Amino acid sequence: MTEHDLSVRADTLLVTWADKTSTPFPTIWLRDNCPSGLHPQTRERVLDLLALDDAPVLCAAQLEAGCAVLSYADGHVSRMPLPLLSANRPGQQAADPAAIAAQLWRSDLGASGLPRCPAAPLMVDDPALNAWMQATAAFGLSIVEGLENRVGAGIDVAERVGFLRKTNFGTTFEVINKPEPNNLAYTAIALPLHTDLPNQEVPPGYQFLHCLANESTGGGSVFADGFAMAEDLRVEDPDAFRLLCEVPIPFRFHDAEADIQVYKPVITLDGAGEVIEIRYNAHLAGIFDMPAEIMSVFYQAYRAYMAKTRDEKYRLVLKLKAGEMVVFDNRRVLHGRDAFDPASGLRHLQGCYVDRGEFASRLRLLSQAKGLARS
Ligand code: OGA
Ligand code: ZN
Repeated sequence: MTEHDLSVRADTLLVTWADKTSTPFPTIWLRDNCPSGLHPQTRERVLDLLALDDAPVLCAAQLEAGCAVLSYADGHVSRMPLPLLSANRPGQQAADPAAIAAQLWRSDLGASGLPRCPAAPLMVDDPALNAWMQATAAFGLSIVEGLENRVGAGIDVAERVGFLRKTNFGTTFEVINKPEPNNLAYTAIALPLHTDLPNQEVPPGYQFLHCLANESTGGGSVFADGFAMAEDLRVEDPDAFRLLCEVPIPFRFHDAEADIQVYKPVITLDGAGEVIEIRYNAHLAGIFDMPAEIMSVFYQAYRAYMAKTRDEKYRLVLKLKAGEMVVFDNRRVLHGRDAFDPASGLRHLQGCYVDRGEFASRLRLLSQAKGLARS
């Protein structure tokens, strides 16, 4: 490992890599991440950070068999594998195979441009599952084809991804025209583009809707990339975009068994200003109660986003066939349907959710199996 170089500074270790770039590692970080501080089986940290000096004194550092061997003034000796240091350079987030960049789309993608994947390989073939999940994460939407014609076939695919998210509508739900609906989805009326359950503290992540029958007249599906609409609004009307990011609005669902509500903005950004979540559901939005001074401008902003959901530029339309399942990131992609005539034939979708965290976990495990990921 002669291509690397270690040099001990006052409160840092300076590592010079083979490419001659250098990274300073503060000694407190080095002690906090010493492998001896991890439980040997669980790999969770058992070290008590407060048991350390706040500025541990590093006396010596040498390279030995792919490790930086660090000797501290209190007698502690750490063996830090160089790949561990290299993958966790301060100021640079470690690579994450589940961090898949969103590929924004508009209606010109066309239903034929969506990722499609046969169901059978997903059940048995990990690389096929990985490839499909990567595409689904990038587009936020995909179609699985050739599912068995039985209730539960879509759920089986969802469970290959991760644990199902239970909500007040159950762990799985039947989207069918019901006599006493507690949700507009369980009627035959049109559903304008929306995200599901924005009234939850954390709305469900990926939604799976397996089409078992779609024989009624009407009942076509529509989807739109909520991130693309937000990004276009950011450019066209920055003030509207800002209001949708900053002003929390009430969302509420209530029936005899539940009364679930939150105040959240329509658009959520991460620390870098990237759009990471859309909550948009005109039928679950509560009664706006922001101060009167901003009420009118907020309505303008909200209507501007709403107008995008009606704009053909964003709306991707298709009619699901029996044996197809649509899978989408419910915190990004809006979905809706046309009204249908229940007297003209059966329409039945079976649905469930798998949260983003479960989805990401599966992607990381699948990448490790391919030898791509971190330890
Ligand atoms: C839903 C929903 C769409 C459809 O169940 O949340 O929006 O096509 N269903 O029936
Ligand atoms: Zn819905």
